[in-house]
Amino acid sequence: MYLGLDIGTSGVKAVLIDADQKIIGSANTAITVSRPHSGWSEQDPKSWISATEASLDQLKMEFGSALAAVTGIGLSGQMHGATLLDSADEILRPCILWNDTRSHKQAAELDANPLFRKQSGNIVFPGFTAPKLAWVKDNEPEIFAQTAKVLLPKDYLRLWLTGEFVSDMSDASGTSWLNVEARDWSEDLLGATDLGVQHMPSLVEGSDVSGTLRSELASRWGMKDVVVAGGAGDNAASAIGLGTVQAGSAFASLGTSGVLFAANETYLPNPESAVHAFCHALPQMWHQMGVFLSATDSLNWWAKVAGSNAADLTASLGEKPTAPAAPIFLPYMSGERTPHNDAAIRGAFVGLDHAHDQAAMTAAVLDGVGFALRDSMEALRAAGTHLNKVMAVGGGSNSDYWLQTISNILGLPVELPEDGDFGAAFGAARLGLMSAESADPLDVCQPPKIKSVFEPNRSLKDDYETSYQRYRALYPALSGAMK
Ligand code: XUL
Repeated sequence: MYLGLDIGTSGVKAVLIDADQKIIGSANTAITVSRPHSGWSEQDPKSWISATEASLDQLKMEFGSALAAVTGIGLSGQMHGATLLDSADEILRPCILWNDTRSHKQAAELDANPLFRKQSGNIVFPGFTAPKLAWVKDNEPEIFAQTAKVLLPKDYLRLWLTGEFVSDMSDASGTSWLNVEARDWSEDLLGATDLGVQHMPSLVEGSDVSGTLRSELASRWGMKDVVVAGGAGDNAASAIGLGTVQAGSAFASLGTSGVLFAANETYLPNPESAVHAFCHALPQMWHQMGVFLSATDSLNWWAKVAGSNAADLTASLGEKPTAPAAPIFLPYMSGERTPHNDAAIRGAFVGLDHAHDQAAMTAAVLDGVGFALRDSMEALRAAGTHLNKVMAVGGGSNSDYWLQTISNILGLPVELPEDGDFGAAFGAARLGLMSAESADPLDVCQPPKIKSVFEPNRSLKDDYETSYQRYRALYPALSGAMK
């Protein structure tokens, strides 16, 4: 048996799989985000531990003997969060999360130092870890002075599980301190934020062993001799779960944020297009992704304004789109990463007409998120990756209308996996399996069976292209108007 633990932004999920990778059981415990000021997003690291304990206690109650047979644990988590510990391993302040944009000024300053893009292969986005530490240094110097270790969320959980300070390459890639090509910390980049390698955990590959489960925890859950794998940032962990591990394979995730993820056999950075170029969770593999901050979040916002819910709104549109929506929606509800790297930009409906009703505006929101995916596809293309199909995952993939819209906009077949749980926690469990059994990653990481494929409607190609070009042209005007 193998266990995957994923620290999401809204909950900690535990998934138990057997040697044939069949899901035996899963449990999810909700956690909360606090937003003390506009643009801030924080979480208490202790809540990750208590939610993990609650999820595992629930698994123990329902599947006690299966849980006791676990020999490998894999970890996954929301990326980029800054968990600051003092020299006694005590938490110094709430963790500053991936979607916190308070450090946009520090991010721009670090990004202006050419070493960052050169060595980390990425723009220093405000959501990444290094600018958060620069913000703490500027605004909470007494906390910065006491900081002995900086850990990513899943690595804080690992410290509790194993007593070890370790991270994996994929998650470490999102700190702005990793030399992503060399798969090692960069002393230059750490030095630019007045930190050193001593502040960082050691590094392993996602499928390697990072430590063993502490004996008191093992006996609490009835386990013996359990290894904990390096694990992965949540997107790379989802890729492991979906079998996105060979060059050319890709998935589009329609969750709170939107992600277009492609696996690469070589390191293919292109910070100019705002593509993320990170290490994958397997040795000698990298990946690229475009990340935009409001995917289902845009639809949920619109549903709230419209006094409805996302499922009813999408259902009201019928089975499939017959044309692009007439109004244009720009989904920059909380700023944007790919392709604009703009923390200040906000969303817009443009081109409203007396004839437009709720359905027209819902269709515009779905198109707008599709256009954001197309932006990410263009960013990947500028970085050398040409996709020929994508797999769709996340809450938004429940709408066939939306998947057909996305296929029309990307001009690519969109594959929908059969029902099942192929998310980050499942990917983490696969990494637990690989580390415990030294199993071949390509054997373990098979893609799921496909339930349906949405092919682009070629007769609408030109219409969608015209709408996308309008959407593209609106950003500079909107950004100018917001200054
Ligand atoms: C990736 C990113 C998000 C978080 C939250 O760069 O910021 O996908 O990992 O899940």
